[in-house]
Amino acid sequence: MVKSCVGVDIGNARIKMVEIRRKGRGLQVVKLGEVVTPDSAVRRGKVLSEDVLATTLRSLKQELGISSDYVVVGITSQDIVVKQTKFPTMGAKDLAQVLEFELKDILRLSFNALDEVAYSYEEFARTEEEVEVLVTGCQRSLINPYISALTQAGLAPSVIDIHAFALLRVLKDVEKPCLVDIGANQTSIYSESNGVFSAYRILPIGGDQITEGVMEAFEIGKLKAEEYKKEKTLDSLLQDGTGPKGLIRTTVQQLVDGIMQTLDFIRAKERGSSVNEVIDTVFISGGTVSIQGLLEIISTESEIPTERLDPFAEITFTDQSMVPEDPWTFASAVGLALRGLQDED
Ligand SMILES: Nc1ncnc2c1ncn2[C@@H]1O[C@H](COP(=O)(O)OP(=O)(O)OP(=O)(O)O)[C@@H](O)[C@H]1O
Ligand SMILES: [Mg+2]
Repeated sequence: MVKSCVGVDIGNARIKMVEIRRKGRGLQVVKLGEVVTPDSAVRRGKVLSEDVLATTLRSLKQELGISSDYVVVGITSQDIVVKQTKFPTMGAKDLAQVLEFELKDILRLSFNALDEVAYSYEEFARTEEEVEVLVTGCQRSLINPYISALTQAGLAPSVIDIHAFALLRVLKDVEKPCLVDIGANQTSIYSESNGVFSAYRILPIGGDQITEGVMEAFEIGKLKAEEYKKEKTLDSLLQDGTGPKGLIRTTVQQLVDGIMQTLDFIRAKERGSSVNEVIDTVFISGGTVSIQGLLEIISTESEIPTERLDPFAEITFTDQSMVPEDPWTFASAVGLALRGLQDED
């Protein structure tokens, strides 16, 4: 049984790392930290420089004193395909073979040989007639640079997961959750209904566009804009600047519209007459939801309970000084570490 696991979230803005161990019947954070992601390391889920990424990962690992060698890493990328599909009911071995045979059609990825793709699947419903499967896959060239950089840094991953899937692990007893992660330049939306996949979307928008908007509106540089985002409310960011304010407004609007459209897609797919029939709560993670007032806008528009996702609700810390001010930014890293610990149960 794995006693402790490291979750690594390689974000476009910051790399987050957390080591979690089993403590009696519960779980405990033993190490936690983050570092700014160098501009040249990754962009929208793609590694730009393996070496830069490896160096950054290695120094964070050393600084935190990470000791577990069971590592789970997460990826969010528009190049990862997630497809729900059905087959006539068959045994597990046959299912594996049929999937392999039909992989190209299911994922609509172009490849010549099977070893050019990385894929996995999960069966989530089975009747006498049909078996429903969620298939996830991408070109190996997307994940190989991650594996290589992590291995160089002494963090060879045992599992690679999709961030949004891992996020679900920090929740307890929610039947119909919708998880929204608003990062630096990507927003992912994932929902389930009673343990069955219902939707996964990635919007190419995030906090960086709001930073650019603040730079324009207040005619300031990036560092100052990051400070303003932390200090000011969304209302004052939208009103107080003397420069053009359109970019902040349109980014927030695009974000809210993208979330609303996805919620409505889920409602239609689940044949609900209103969104709150098919979603209990929207949980928001990622650094961008720290902006004061953003959560309230999403909550007002969606008319369903909306909260920041606290991944530490059921987890203790070896040292209270480690508890972060903005726990929701660590939600992915925590979910990934939990994936490692739960896989071995
Ligand atoms: N206290 C804060 N107040 C306002 N905005 C914040 C705060 N902390 C972080 N942010 C914003 O959150 C964003 C970074 O969030 P996060 O760390 O979740 O991104 P990431 O995981 O690195 O990126 P991605 O998920 O897109 O790969 C940045 O745009 C940053 O300005
Ligand atoms: Mg992120």
